[in-house]
Amino acid sequence: MAGVVAEVGKGVSKFKKGDEVYGDILEIVEGNPWQVGTLAQYTVVEEHLLALKPSNLSFEEAASLPLALQTALLAFDTVNFQKGQSVFIVGGAGGVGSLAIQLAKNVFEASRIVSTSSAGKVEFVKSLGADLVVDYTKQSYEQIDEKFDFVFDTIGESAKSHVVAKEEGKIVDITAFPPHQKAVNVVTKAHGSNLERVGKYIESGKLKAVIDPKSPYAFSDVVEAYKHQESGRARGKIVISPIE
Ligand SMILES: NC(=O)c1ccc[n+]([C@@H]2O[C@H](COP(=O)([O-])OP(=O)(O)OC[C@H]3O[C@@H](n4cnc5c(N)ncnc54)[C@H](OP(=O)(O)O)[C@@H]3O)[C@@H](O)[C@H]2O)c1
Repeated sequence: MAGVVAEVGKGVSKFKKGDEVYGDILEIVEGNPWQVGTLAQYTVVEEHLLALKPSNLSFEEAASLPLALQTALLAFDTVNFQKGQSVFIVGGAGGVGSLAIQLAKNVFEASRIVSTSSAGKVEFVKSLGADLVVDYTKQSYEQIDEKFDFVFDTIGESAKSHVVAKEEGKIVDITAFPPHQKAVNVVTKAHGSNLERVGKYIESGKLKAVIDPKSPYAFSDVVEAYKHQESGRARGKIVISPIE
């Protein structure tokens, strides 16, 4: 979500009324989701989940980032990704994949970025920073002759995509549970500090929000928005605007 602080509670030190903030407000407390997100006009949020909204982003752009961006960051951190390493990103056109490509190129300085999408999205995924985009409807993982230091699978296909990892390469699958035996599954733990860490890249335009062309959806079209998400065909992130 992204919004404006309406009031602050006792003990809040980071933000004041009127601040423009954003964050992934999903929080798991002792194994239970305490709060799973919001479509509401007003919501109550713990301050550690938020960061100040970069001033160059609209609220819609800001709302699109926190979950996907923190998920992609976690994946790169999990494998301790180093400048100059190569990465293969399964699902480059999705919410997480579209940010993972930008992170790989502009933050982690990968030496080579290869990703996958269907034919109609190849140019779009290239425009995000991929050196090569494989049309997964025409080419299987076995037909890819390169091997990579890191395979980041956002689609849940590590049972198949693991073959493009180097022998000593690392694989993160954020969807399949359990993932392939060579892969690890990670679950995002939101914190405003993750967003602050990449704030300068957002402000300088090196990390851009990627909003699905059908977004932002009006609140009255929320069912359509969820159907589009469930179709698995979204390009970037779907955003829902607040109640007018
Ligand atoms: N573990 C975590 O903490 C965590 C956090 C966030 C999300 N997730 C999960 O991660 C997954 C990805 O999330 P997302 O928001 O990025 O998804 P998304 O935006 O819904 O992904 C849609 C995109 O996936 C592409 N796609 C579908 N099948 C594909 C395939 N076989 N190969 C390559 N691309 C394919 C589609 O492109 P085409 O139309 O070209 O196929 C579409 O552009 C979801 O399952 C989500 O639940 C996990």
